[in-house]
This record gives sequence, C-alpha cells and structure tokens, in this order.
Amino acid sequence: MRRTEPEHVRSSLQRVSHRYLWTPLALGPVTTRNRIVFSAHLTNYARDGLPTEQHAAYYAARAAGGTGLIVTEEHSTHPTDWPYEKLIHGFHRDVIPGYRQITDAVHRHRVPIFAQINHNGGQASSMYTRLPVWAPSPVADPLFREVPKAVSHAEIDEIVAGYALVAEHCAEGGFDGIELQCSHSSIVRGFLSPATNRRTDEYGGSLEHRARLLHEIVAAVRRVVGNRLALGVRLCGDELIDGGTTIDEAVQVARMVEARGQVDYINTSIGVATATLFMIEASMHVPPGYALFIPSAIRVAIDLPVVGVGRFKDPLQAERALAEGHCDLVGVVRGQIADADFAAKAQTGLTEDIRLCLSCNQECVGRMGLNRWLGCIENPLTGRESVVIRPAVAHDRSVEPGEVLVVGAGPGGLQAAISAARAGHRVTVWERHAEPGGQVRLAATVPNRAELGDMIRNQVAECQRLGVVIDCGVDATIERVRSARPHHVIVATGATAASPWWIGVDVTNACDVRDVLTGAAAPAGSVVVIDELGFHHATSVAELLSDRGCQVEIATPGMVVGQDLGITLDLEQWWMRATAKGIVQSTDLVPMGFDGTTLTLLHHPTGGNVERTPDWVVLAVPAVPADELYHALRGADISVERVGDCVAPRRAHAAVVEGERAGASVPPPPLRVSPIARARPRRRSRWRDRAPVEVAPIA
Ligand SMILES: Cc1cc2nc3c(=O)[nH]c(=O)nc-3n(C[C@H](O)[C@H](O)[C@H](O)COP(=O)(O)O)c2cc1C
Ligand code: SF4
Repeated sequence: MRRTEPEHVRSSLQRVSHRYLWTPLALGPVTTRNRIVFSAHLTNYARDGLPTEQHAAYYAARAAGGTGLIVTEEHSTHPTDWPYEKLIHGFHRDVIPGYRQITDAVHRHRVPIFAQINHNGGQASSMYTRLPVWAPSPVADPLFREVPKAVSHAEIDEIVAGYALVAEHCAEGGFDGIELQCSHSSIVRGFLSPATNRRTDEYGGSLEHRARLLHEIVAAVRRVVGNRLALGVRLCGDELIDGGTTIDEAVQVARMVEARGQVDYINTSIGVATATLFMIEASMHVPPGYALFIPSAIRVAIDLPVVGVGRFKDPLQAERALAEGHCDLVGVVRGQIADADFAAKAQTGLTEDIRLCLSCNQECVGRMGLNRWLGCIENPLTGRESVVIRPAVAHDRSVEPGEVLVVGAGPGGLQAAISAARAGHRVTVWERHAEPGGQVRLAATVPNRAELGDMIRNQVAECQRLGVVIDCGVDATIERVRSARPHHVIVATGATAASPWWIGVDVTNACDVRDVLTGAAAPAGSVVVIDELGFHHATSVAELLSDRGCQVEIATPGMVVGQDLGITLDLEQWWMRATAKGIVQSTDLVPMGFDGTTLTLLHHPTGGNVERTPDWVVLAVPAVPADELYHALRGADISVERVGDCVAPRRAHAAVVEGERAGASVPPPPLRVSPIARARPRRRSRWRDRAPVEVAPIA
C-alpha cells in the first residue's frame, strides 16, 4: 500500500505529544481543556435575526470534535447595526431560546462557549435598517461607501447600553463568556482607529480618548455579567491602512485594558473587514501563521492570556506557536470549518487524518459575500450538521452492500467513493492518469497554489481508511466495466478542453491552460491568455508563464480579470503579483478570431476591433463534458450515475457535493449477496497506482 507520506515522517507526526496544546487554561471563571479556539466567524445560519438549530448543530459538532473553546459569530448590539441580512439581533429578547439551544448542545460535550457581541459602526449599510449608520465621525467606509452619522453623546450612551443588554441576554442564554469584537469591523475599532475617528471631544484625539468607548463598554458588560462569565476583547493589531491602528497602539490598548482589571483575555486579529479583508481571512497566497507577530507583541506586554489567529493549518504549527511563546491559545477557524474533528484527531495522534483546510475561501468566506450559508469545499457536511442524514446501506439490515465502481479520481469521483464506502459498499475507483486528482492536481502545480493539492491528499487518505481501492492508469471501456461486474457505476470522467469557434482550424500555437500545466504545450515569447472563466485558471497560468520568461497579457470579456477572485479574497494580491511580474490585464475584450498570427478582439464598449500578434494564445474557456462513457453505460443498461464536470463543467465544490450525494444514494444491488460473499472479509485498503501522489507539505 502506498502512503501519502513516508512512513518515518508519519510515525514522527504521530509521536509528537503537543505538550502545550493539551494544557488547560483559565480564562477568568472558565477553564478550557486545551488551547484550540474555534474563533468567531459569520455563518449566515440565522433566520429573521434569530439563531437556529443549524447554529446549535454546527457548534456542537466542533465541541464533539474536541475544540477547547467556541466563540460564536457576532450578535448585533443595537437596531442601527444590520450590515448583512443574516445577522443575529442580540438586542431582541427573542434570541434567548435559540441561545439556550446552542449552549446546551455545546455544553453536552463539556466545552465552554462564548458569544461575540458587536456593533459594526460605519462598516455597514442602511439597506436593511433604513437608518443612517453610526460611527465616531462622518468617514465613509470604502466598501459600503455611506457617510455615517457621527454619534452624539446620548447615542454613545445608547451604544453602551446596547452592549450591556445583549450581554444580559447572553448570560440568560447560558453562554460562559462574552467577547467584544473591537477588531476588524466594529464601532469600537472605529473609535480606536485614527483613520476613522476625527472627533475633537473626549472620545477623539489621544489614544486614551479614543479608547474611552471601549472602556465604557467593558465596564458596562462586566457590571451585568459580574464574575460569572468570562470577558474577552478582540483587538486589531494592524489595520494595514494609511493612518490606521498599528501594532504599537494595539499593544498600548491591550495594556490599558489589562490595567483596568475587568477583562480575562485578549483575542487578536489583523486588517479591517472592508479595506483589508483579504488579510483577515487570508487565502493560501499568504504564509501560514502570518499574523503571529500581533499576539507575540501583545503577549510580552501584558499578563492576560492572548489568542493568536490566522492560518493555523495543523496542530504542529499551533503547538509551535504556543511553545515559542507567541500566544496562549490558538484560533483555528477554517481548520475546524473543514474538519470538525481537528482537535480530537490531533490529540489522539491522528494528525494525518485531519482534513486540512486549503485556505481557498471558496465555500466559507466566498459564500458569506454571496449571502449564502457557510460551507466548505471539501467537507460537504459543513453547513448541513442539522440535516438528518438518511440511514446508509450499512445500517439498513434489509439492504445488502454492493460493488460500486467509480470512474475518475478527481474530487467528485473520490468523494463519491468516500460516500459510497461510508454507506457500506465495496468501492473501486479507476483513474485513467497515473495519479488521482483530476483538474485539482493540475491546478495545484502553479505558483502559490500547492495547498489546493491537500484536497486530493485528504480524499485519498480517507479512501484508504475506508478500504476503497484506487487503481490508476486504467482506461475505462464499456467491456472492462462489464467484466468488473459492479452493481452500480458512478462516472466522474470530468471535462475536456474545448477549441472555440474563433480559433483557426490549422492553428498550432493555441492551447488550453491544462495543456500548459501538463506540459503538453510549452508557450514561449509573447502570450495572450484569454480569461472567460473569471477564476484562477487564467491568472495562475499567466503567472506560471511569466515566471518562465514569457511576456504575458490576459484579455477578458469581463470588466476585471479573474473576477471571482474577489469573493475568495484573492484579487488584491493577484493585482500586486501581476503588477510586480509585469502581467498586462486587458478587459472588455471578446475574442473574435486567431489565425495563428493575428488575434482579433472586439472591444465591446466601443464596438471597435483591436489586434494582437502574440506567439501563443492560451485559453481559459468553458470546457466540454467528457460524458461518452456515461452515455455508453446507460445504453448498455448498466446502473449508472454521473457527477461533476462530466455532467456540466463547474468548480470543485460542485463535483464534491454531487459525489457525496451520488455515493450516499447508490441503489441496492439487484440480487441479495450470498451468505458466503457476505462473510468475505472487507478488502484491505490498497492503492494500486503507477506513481506517487504529489502532495503539498503540511505547512
Ligand atoms: C467566513 C468567516 C467569517 C468571519 N467572521 C468573523 C466575525 O464575525 N468576527 C470575527 O471576529 N472574526 C471573523 N472572522 C475571522 C476569524 O475569526 C479569523 O480571524 C480568520 O478566519 C483567520 O483564522 P483562520 O485562518 O483560522 O481561518 C471570520 C472568518 C471567516 C472565515
Ligand atoms: S472552503 Fe476552503 S478555506 Fe474554507 S474551510 Fe473549506 S477548505 Fe478551508
């Protein structure tokens, strides 16, 4: 059996004791059993301003998975604060039954849970409230672009009272603590930051004045919750904006907070939710642990426990941050969105079983921006924790497990295999190429995208644990499928590159992005990359070619190259890298023809044509479903389902979701399996391949 890591590496990972990670820590009246925090993050699970069953199930799953502390998403403290639809309105008493449902569900696993409470201030819109947004000064937020109302002293009192009221609701709802979000999207941040506080009264000017609101809120909340609940403050260590808060001021604020003796811990963060959001939930282009300098600087200045957050991908990295004294607790947010059992697996030495987060932001952060509920690209169960799953075959005594064949070991096929194996079937996967992974394996070969490869490594490892056989280098023909005699086939054969109508028939210097990645084509000289997909395809290959010495231009019919990089927070950094590499970005251009020499592009705002004479044209254009096998099997009356790109070429999450569904709903075999066959021992996990999987190292 081939492993994803050499044996000596794997066993040394398992031997690591994580001495610091599993040490309890007191945060005021609350003691966490370990140092892993599921820090606050929006989920969009709320309905009509109220928490839901899904919240309870979601947090309970992470509590069951061994996390040390949960901090919920923010709860609004005042009716003037409603920046996005599915925000919990903590200021309504109606939230209390929902709070109880959440806290009871989490407490069943003996894990403490804190509520994050917040007023977003000027980082909001009046769209839902039809009221002016409140802020220290009339400084418009760059994202919402609304000039806020500078709050009066009476309104400041109202804000403070709002925090106290919500804290009271949280205490009644069973929370063990309160965290004040004063970090990246908050009226308190607005007051603290010299960039947004232009006041000349006792709430503006010096840092002591700018911190006055924070102190008033802390005092009011402490008055309400007494010493029964823990109280924490989340601070931004560097706003990364001109004239904004920097680490020196953040350290001073932490000192002031500690000096007043009313707070039990400091949580940290980096960036401003609207101007530098891409650094708060940094994607894989930013190194793991990138924000560690913040807790590190604060921790040496104060005695309160400090939480460090930001791309903690694996427990070893978390342990190291603790061991080196950078922080006392480690926030693992996306790591536990991707794998609810992150902590339990780490604690029991199953580090390599952790489904490592890719920091792709596609289904967590990306869905927040689209007003959809939080999910995860590689965990189809995230966001569906409260959904009652139909009993799988293995639990239904009346149905026998069967033999399932999956054709194609891309993300959809592997997920189908995992899901069918979980349902109790014996599963074999055939992959045409020498390695599993499909398009994702290719996509992970470009600069800075290697972590995407963790997705395949995670899936292959899960297949191995479930005893799925993966046979690589097998070309599936209808005869071969027949002779294997599966009772059901799931086809996940992906998609093939398309040749658009506007490419001349004899052209030899045009190729698809995947030809560049496989090495089937080697463009050189000047290259125009056509971006019709608006995601990483064109930008990744452009970078790769630029690194190889090509002069690269990307042309897109869209208004911006790589448009959807905006929702995964990759756009800003792409612009920085493109500028540094001299990659030209041209928009509003529709390709009309390429004869091997001249590329004609229609500039659609003006209706005029422009021409280029590149050495190569590289295409990031819609692909064609590879569905021949599926149709052949259907024609041959073989029980078959298809998933992913061979249905319709889309992004990886669609393939994973469909694979999960198809695997879970495999029909029962037509004939009952004989008792002898039933007694046959499960096959041991085997992966018969021709070449090892290339995997990104654990960061
Ligand atoms: C989808 C999403 C929503 C978030 N919303 C909040 C929030 O409401 N309050 C907050 O303090 N942090 C929020 N964060 C930031 C996280 O607490 C954390 O700082 C960030 O995700 C980096 O940690 P990670 O790399 O472990 O994911 C959010 C993060 C994500 C991924
Ligand atoms: S969608 Fe991507 S970034 Fe978000 S939790 Fe899942 S793997 Fe991590």
